[in-house]
Amino acid sequence: MQPFGIGVGAGLAPAPSRRDIGRVRSFGGGGHKARPYDGLGRAVCVTAFALLSVFAFGCGKSRSGKHLVGFSQCNLGEPWRVSMNAQVAARAKDFPDLEIAYADAQQDNAKQVADVENFLRQKIDLLIISPNEAKPLTPIVKRVFDQGIPVVILDRAIEGDTYTTFIGADNRLIGKAAGDYIAKVLNGKGDVVEIQGLPGSPPARDRRDGFREAIAAFPNIHVVHDPVANWLREEAMAQMESALAAHPHIDLVYAHNDPMAAGAYLAAKAKGRENEMKFVGIDALPGLDGGIQMVADGRLAATFVYPTGGKEAVETADRILKGEKVPHKIVLQTAMVTKENAAQFQQPAAAK
Ligand code: FRU
Repeated sequence: MQPFGIGVGAGLAPAPSRRDIGRVRSFGGGGHKARPYDGLGRAVCVTAFALLSVFAFGCGKSRSGKHLVGFSQCNLGEPWRVSMNAQVAARAKDFPDLEIAYADAQQDNAKQVADVENFLRQKIDLLIISPNEAKPLTPIVKRVFDQGIPVVILDRAIEGDTYTTFIGADNRLIGKAAGDYIAKVLNGKGDVVEIQGLPGSPPARDRRDGFREAIAAFPNIHVVHDPVANWLREEAMAQMESALAAHPHIDLVYAHNDPMAAGAYLAAKAKGRENEMKFVGIDALPGLDGGIQMVADGRLAATFVYPTGGKEAVETADRILKGEKVPHKIVLQTAMVTKENAAQFQQPAAAK
């Protein structure tokens, strides 16, 4: 199946090559694109910049004269987020003018607000943020944007429009594709458990709405249980135990991400019921612990590529800081992964 989506296509998220967690200052490496200031112009600029940097502290430039980018991650407890950070760190090496400061909010809205306030005190030049939940993070993002600091929102939207650009895949489209696939494998009939992500994070809402839209045409598909497991494998396991106890027969589990699908699978396996039903997830991380491998092994019937956008966030930040205009929304592509095509999505030597 071809990748699908609209707008700027990114296809598969590349395998993370590094897993930097915590605050990392990236001093770059080779391979960066030609800069606009080459030759003599560059020498003049460097000199001027050195002089300017004397006055720079406290007015928006980092000590090193690089652009300081604050990257506020909502949590690093999930492999998909670790992969996003690794992508950011790997791509940032190609941009020696960028210095990235990392913060991990540990799934805590208040901590994420405090992390961004801390970035403001550090006088960041640009903010990249993947918000935990939309509503509680909207005011601080607005505050940053209203101060004239560009904001790149990654993966989970905020409310309103006060940011420079949003980068992410279309979760409603993914939910719809999951629903279409599920209707097909169930031949239009069956009992489904839907395990939902964190309700205040827009991808959970969109993956649910898209799915419900797709199955609305099939009156014999019943969602018999739809617990919230907040994106987490362990919570999904516990929720699935209740679903198994309440329903002597289940045809399929649709989980809003692969870790929750994995948790549901383990709960069913513990009861010897894993072959009774199919499991469908979303994320499709490469690597031995990722969703693609789970599909290849037959634990999941299907998953959907959900690119982290880490690489695109760094590239877009660089463009913004160079004064280029960027689209207000950058939509990343997705694709369905089943046993038939799993091998072509799996990348050897991927993140282990
Ligand atoms: C990680 C994660 C992914 C999911 C995304 C949605 O925190 O739960 O598994 O696809 O967030 O925002």
